[in-house]
Formats: sequence, structure tokens, C-alpha cells
Amino acid sequence: PTAQVPVLCIDGPTASGKGTVAAAVARALGYHFLDSGAMYRITAYAALRADHAIGAENEAAIARMAATLPVRFDDGRIWLDTEDVTDAIRTEAAGMNASKVSALPAVRAALVDLQLSFRRLPGLVADGRDMGTVIFPAAPLKVYLTASAERRAERRHKQLISKGISTTIADLRADLEARDARDSSRAVAPLRAAADALILDNSDLTVQACVDRVLAWWDQRQGF
Ligand code: DC
Repeated sequence: PTAQVPVLCIDGPTASGKGTVAAAVARALGYHFLDSGAMYRITAYAALRADHAIGAENEAAIARMAATLPVRFDDGRIWLDTEDVTDAIRTEAAGMNASKVSALPAVRAALVDLQLSFRRLPGLVADGRDMGTVIFPAAPLKVYLTASAERRAERRHKQLISKGISTTIADLRADLEARDARDSSRAVAPLRAAADALILDNSDLTVQACVDRVLAWWDQRQGF
């Protein structure tokens, strides 16, 4: 029966605007939304909370935690047990920790079922790095959303400044290039466009233009 549930994948590098675009597309279609990056962020957060350094030496222990992660997605808030971790997992450091934990193959394997459980009617928009390549390889539409490193750093900078966090564009750019490099070079499920993905470079597009582009692609797919 899950084969009948339409899945639309949006993969791409850090700060490409995937999350914003994917959530808006899900809203427009009335579909469920999977923020797979949040699962790696929460796993890293839970590991550190349990005093496990994030590395191969703790891979088995962290994978066990990931397999039974007491996480709840509730109306825009994310809970780990009784703790609201929505804001804590969004920091730059939390992103870097997520990237480290996501390079551990046993942790990736432990999070597969949780991700698949989001595939429910009427449909799913899945946001991540390997949605189209590994988790939902049969999805009828795979979008690879990207933008230049310069543009992504500028956007992230604007976001952080608006939250009152001070950083420089140069530091942010160095961070996101380091994260891209780690995510793209890992042995298991590296960041890359699926062979059948449609590439959308949004360096010079507004969020709304991206959303419209993806929805138009989705409409074309429905005609098949
Ligand atoms: O999308 P994000 O920034 O929240 O993701 C955080 C990290 O999690 C990212 O640097 C790599 C990892 N990740 C992954 O390996 N696979 C996914 N499907 C999503 C995220």
C-alpha cells in the first residue's frame, strides 16, 4: 500500500533553501513533510546529551539511540522526550554535529524506518541529502535544489543576523563548504543528485519562484 503514496524528494546542500521550499510545497499540496536533517540533528543532540562523543568509537551506541529515538514532530515544534529541542538543533554547531553523526553508517541505517514511516497518504514531501538516492529511490519526482556557496552564505548570514546572532559571511561560507565536503565525500549515501533528479539552481530565484517551479514539475508528473 505504501507504493501508492506519492513521494516528492527535495535534496541538496546546506542552506540551499530546501527546508523552506519543501515545507511550502508540502503545504500547497496538503502532503506530509519529512525533515530528515532534523533526525540527524536530534540524534547528534541526544548523543552529546548522553556524553557520547560523535565518532566511530561510539557508532554502535549512537545507532542504538537513533533506532529508538523518542522524537515527536508536533505542529512545527520538535520534542526529544519531554524537551523542546526546536531551537537547540538549529544552531550552526548542531548542524555540524549532525553532519558528523550522519557519516556513521550504522546511524544512517538506524534512521531508515523512522524516515519511511512518514510515507503516508495523501503524500509526502521529503527534504534531505539522500531522499531520492537511498530512502525513496522510486519517487516520481526528485528535485536537487542548489545555489552558489556565496549565495547560501549570504542567506544564512541574513537569517542569523535577524535572530541577533553575529557572524561573518566568510566564516559561514567556510563552515558550509566544510559541511558540503563532508556530506559529499562520505562512503555511505553521500550528497549527490539522483540520476533522474531535476536540478534547480536557485541562486537567482525567489522562494516563491522555486516553489512554483517544483509544483509545476509535480503537475507534469501527475499527468503520466
Ligand atoms: O538539512 P540539514 O542541514 O538539517 O542537515 C543536517 C546534516 O544532516 C547534514 O549536514 C547532513 C545530514 N543529513 C544527511 O546526511 N542525510 C539527510 N537525508 C539529511 C541530513
